[in-house]
Amino acid sequence: TYVVTDNCIRCKYTDCVEVCPVDCFYVGETMLVINPDECIDCGVCEPECPADAIKADTEPGLDGWIALNAKYAALWPNISEKRDPLGDAAEWDGRPGKLESVFG
Ligand code: SF4
Ligand code: F3S
Repeated sequence: TYVVTDNCIRCKYTDCVEVCPVDCFYVGETMLVINPDECIDCGVCEPECPADAIKADTEPGLDGWIALNAKYAALWPNISEKRDPLGDAAEWDGRPGKLESVFG
């Protein structure tokens, strides 16, 4: 499966939801997550993210993000259409420590 990681936070470009063939993205206030039970591992979304936030879960070091995606996919509503990114998305793009900035 694929997972949404740190750099989606406070950006939310949502280009990813437009290309997902199974609409398995879920939306929170500051980021999106992928439902691991619904993702068919097609990989189409990964190059679409302007913030490079989507990763294959086979990459090392993603355990926390895998757990976070699974947890919030069960709690947040589905999103299947592109929305405007957050107003200060460009400012936040690439900043370290985003997770701590919203969940900490
Ligand atoms: Fe959707 Fe494919 Fe991305 Fe999974 S890998 S979230 S199925 S676009
Ligand atoms: Fe987030 Fe990238 Fe999608 S910033 S909303 S994972 S296009």
